[in-house]
Amino acid sequence: MCPPEHFAVEYVINPWMDTSAPVDAELALKQWQLLCETLVRLGHTVHVLPAEAGLPDMVYAANGAFSVDGVVYGARFRYPQRIAEAAAHRAFYSSWRFVEPTEINEGEGDFAYLPEAHGGLILAGYGFRTESTAHAEAQEALGRPSVSLRLVDPRFYHLDVALAALDDSNIVYYPGAFSEASQRILRQLFPDAVIADETDALAFGLNLVSDGRNVVLNSEASALAAKLRTAGYVPVPVELTELKKGGGSVKCCIAELRP
Ligand code: ARG
Repeated sequence: MCPPEHFAVEYVINPWMDTSAPVDAELALKQWQLLCETLVRLGHTVHVLPAEAGLPDMVYAANGAFSVDGVVYGARFRYPQRIAEAAAHRAFYSSWRFVEPTEINEGEGDFAYLPEAHGGLILAGYGFRTESTAHAEAQEALGRPSVSLRLVDPRFYHLDVALAALDDSNIVYYPGAFSEASQRILRQLFPDAVIADETDALAFGLNLVSDGRNVVLNSEASALAAKLRTAGYVPVPVELTELKKGGGSVKCCIAELRP
């Protein structure tokens, strides 16, 4: 995770960003710290990447890389405003096997991993940020099959705002964010998935992080929290109103490490 010490909405690269809407920087930092503390309270270890001036979106650490089985596939950002973030993430992984990408991809923003689904499956989004050619590159780098899913709604410009892993083998997703064919593929691969609706997705409910039991998600997504409780998970709501103004929530702030 990377603290929002230099967070601001200074440019517009997704439909959520509005440079004229005020951001409470102090509150953003407080909310981020609470998210951090929540993860630690749940028994997880958090490594902190120092924030860098001039990189206001660096708080969205999920975009910096994608790791599976100790191998890291690096990110290559689509927009010039974020390109420099990739090097900071690369430095963090100095003791890992690191694969430098040639294709544009925004790390865990567009890649999810299900270790127990079909023997270990990468789900990969494209349509707005990550190039579909990066999916093949990730598959070669990580040695796991990758399934390409086409995102069609600009409000859900990354995979991680439309779909999330709930445990090692199941997912939750909002079908409307995907093309008809990709929806069919998701139904085929995950017949028992938890299905979210547009309200859940607009509340950034899908942008969650789960340890298989506790599901940390945006507090505005109360209807999704209820669905997850019914499905047997324990929702852990956190407030992230300020970071939502940059177009992200819980998952965006967390790069999961799969050593
Ligand atoms: N402002 C950032 C961008 O548009 C938000 C990134 C959100 N991150 C994520 N993993 N969805 O790039």
